[in-house]
Amino acid sequence: MPDANAPKINKGLDGIYVSESKICKVDGLNGKLYYRGYPIDDIAANCSFEEASYLILHGTLPNRGQLDEFSKSLSAERDLPTLVVDVIEDTASEKDPMHVLMSAVSLLPAFDEEADDAGEDANLRKSIRIISKMSSIVAAIGRYRNEGEEYVPPDKSLDHVENFMYMLNGKKPTKQEYDIMRIMFLLQLEHSSNASTFSAMVTGSSLSDIYSAVTSAIGTLKGPLHGEADEMALKMIEAIGNPDNTEKYIEDALAGKQRIMGFGHRIYKTYDPRAKILKKYLLELQEHSAEDVRKLTEIALRAEKMMIDKLGASHGIWPNVDFFAGPLYTAAGIQIDLFTPIFAASRATGWCAHLLEYWKENKLIRPLEYYTGPLDLKYLPIGERQ
Ligand code: CMC
Repeated sequence: MPDANAPKINKGLDGIYVSESKICKVDGLNGKLYYRGYPIDDIAANCSFEEASYLILHGTLPNRGQLDEFSKSLSAERDLPTLVVDVIEDTASEKDPMHVLMSAVSLLPAFDEEADDAGEDANLRKSIRIISKMSSIVAAIGRYRNEGEEYVPPDKSLDHVENFMYMLNGKKPTKQEYDIMRIMFLLQLEHSSNASTFSAMVTGSSLSDIYSAVTSAIGTLKGPLHGEADEMALKMIEAIGNPDNTEKYIEDALAGKQRIMGFGHRIYKTYDPRAKILKKYLLELQEHSAEDVRKLTEIALRAEKMMIDKLGASHGIWPNVDFFAGPLYTAAGIQIDLFTPIFAASRATGWCAHLLEYWKENKLIRPLEYYTGPLDLKYLPIGERQ
């Protein structure tokens, strides 16, 4: 019998506002995204990682002096505690990189004298530490996964993205590799109250610490419906193998009720503006790309057309940021299971900014659930149970 008292339940908090924020606007109907009021196209075209990270954390674009100081404070924090490097060395060759990342980040407070200082200034300093060290951790994971590769200490004269690639590969990136990674870091930096950011806020709302909140967020980002979709999308493109298989593959997958990773979004019911930027960039790269990247791109474009024809306007399922990421990362020489850890290293800025903002007017996040089980059952001693 239907329960007349049942409240309206918004599964997955769909359509529910949980806070006010001045950090990021996602306009899902018009396919627009703004970081602190600046359109994402302008950010992608013009910003360094440091500039965008400062903007997200502080709310305004830095002047020259502020940018220099911020860049210095980020690069000064790149070193990792020896124990963290040792843990990565012991685990990275066999374990899921996201598990290794989560474990490594959860160790950082043990080496931070300010770990328990909940003051605003200390939290800002810890944010910078987290943003800086997470890239070093991901690079170290990338090295130790491959036999014979050792940890490469940071080069503090390089910028954030260049240093990441240097620590990952043991050499500075080419211009093309740098450009790709700059765009990837920028587009994944922040995206309002997505699942992982909300996860960070839930943990932070108990007045736990910033390291615990970021560790929670990493765990949430790991799922294929969220951060791991970029890896799954590329795996699908690789599984299609030959461009001429694309249409049948997608047709069969949809007929089998499979989700096509890299498509659909809770908020965007039109083309994700980040996917537009990535697609444009991927197309511009084509003539300079290796054969494998050109093939991945051709499959991606055919899959995109098929999905838009079938589910675009009719169901509001369009490419999201994860769909064209795989071919681009491939062009930058990034191995597939580092995609989500890189996403995390980039999104660390957004997670920290939201925590700093939320803590200004903190309220414990504690939603309701509507209980539908039985009540007043009689306790039976174990010997009397079936
Ligand atoms: N392929 C096929 N069908 C889809 C897809 C897809 N990618 N996405 C949604 N649908 C269908 C879904 O099967 C459902 O159909 P029905 O009503 O017949 O059961 C309907 O659309 C609604 O799906 P939903 O999961 O209830 O909607 P949602 O708003 O929760 O979906 C989503 C958001 C991202 C979870 C979903 O689109 C999805 O699973 N996409 C694939 C994973 C993905 O690419 N995730 C990355 C998101 S963007 C980056 C990020 O934020 O991490």
